[in-house]
Amino acid sequence: MFDLQTMRDQLAAHYDLAPNPELAESMSAEYARMSRVVTPFDWARHAPYVAAILKLKKERNAVILAHNYMTPEIYHGVSDVVGDSLQLAMEATRVEADVIVQCGVHFMAETSKILSPGKTVLIPDVEAGCSLAESITAEDIAQMRAKYPGAPVVSYVNTTAEVKAASDICCTSSNAAQIVAALKEDTIIMTPDQYLAQNIARDVPQKNIVWWEGSCIVHEQYTPQDLRDFREWNPGTRLIAHPECPPDVVDEADFSGSTAGIIKYVTDEKPEKAMLITECSMASNIADALPEVDFIGPCNMCPYMKKITLEKILWSLHTMSEEVVVDLDVAEKARVAVQRMLDLSKELGI
Ligand code: 13P
Ligand code: SF4
Repeated sequence: MFDLQTMRDQLAAHYDLAPNPELAESMSAEYARMSRVVTPFDWARHAPYVAAILKLKKERNAVILAHNYMTPEIYHGVSDVVGDSLQLAMEATRVEADVIVQCGVHFMAETSKILSPGKTVLIPDVEAGCSLAESITAEDIAQMRAKYPGAPVVSYVNTTAEVKAASDICCTSSNAAQIVAALKEDTIIMTPDQYLAQNIARDVPQKNIVWWEGSCIVHEQYTPQDLRDFREWNPGTRLIAHPECPPDVVDEADFSGSTAGIIKYVTDEKPEKAMLITECSMASNIADALPEVDFIGPCNMCPYMKKITLEKILWSLHTMSEEVVVDLDVAEKARVAVQRMLDLSKELGI
C-alpha cells in the first residue's frame, strides 16, 4: 500500500510533527478527555498530529467516524462521531460533509460507502481487516442457503459488501436478538460469527438458529477459567463481556452487550471495579469520563483496529487515500440488507 518511510518523509516535508509540549499545553481541553490513560509525554508527541488533522479536516470538509476500539488519541483527539457498529452505520446515512474518514476496519468503511454512495470514503489503512469478515464469502452463503432452503440469512455487519449483498438482512451486536426475533421464519442462518449466533440462540429460544463457523480473534481468546480467575484475584469486580465471546465466557460475566451497550452499562452502574472482556482500548476511552470506576485489565488488542494511527489518518487526509470503492451492483444489493436492518431497528426502537 505505502512505504512507511516515504510516508514519514513526505509528512515531515509538509507538517511540523516534532513533539511539542507548548502545543500540547494549548490543547488541554482535548487532553482532559484522556489524561488518565495518555501520559503528558505521549500527548506532546500526539498533539502536532492532532492539530494537523483537525486543520486538514476543515480544509477537506471531512468528518471522522471512529469505532469504540480506536486508541484514545484518535477517539478523543480527532473524531467527530464515535460509536459501535450500529451507531456508525446510522451516522453514515446522516453525514453532510464531502468526505468520511473511517477510523475502524474495512467492512465499516464499506458500510459507510454503501450507505453514502455520493461521499468520498477514506480508510487510513486498507489492510485493517477483520477475522470475521475474512471467514466467509458470497459462495459460502449460497451453500448455506442450499443446506437450509427457505431460511433467511442474517449477516453480521462484520462482513464484506459481497456477503452483505448475498444476505437478506444485516445485524450488529446491538440489535441481533431483536432482528432475529422479528423474522417470521423459524429457522434462521446467522453468519459469520458462531459465538454471536450461539449467544443469540440462547436469547431467542423460539428460533432454530444455524451458524457459520467464523470467530473474532480478540474475543475467542477469553476462556471461562480466565473470568473465574479474574474474579478470584479481584473480588467485587464487575465482569462485562462482548457477545462475540463464546457463550461459556458470557455465562461467567455479569453483563453482555455491544461496545455501546458496555459503555452504557458502566456509565449507568458505575461499578467500583470493572473488567471489560473485549478489546483493550474500550476501557481507555471511557476511563476519564468515569473517574470513580477502576478499570482492571485485560488488554487483548485487535491487530486490525490498531493499524489505524494518527500518522496514517493525517496521510489519508493529505493524499485523499485510500478511497473505498464498492462495485455499484454489489453496493445496491448490500444496501438493501443494511437498510433493512436500520429500518427494522428504528421500528423496534433500538
Ligand atoms: P460493536 O462495536 O458493534 O459492538 O462491534 C464490536 C466489534 O468487534 C467491531 O469490530
Ligand atoms: Fe474483527 Fe474482532 Fe477486530 Fe472487531 S475486534 S475488527 S470483530 S477481529
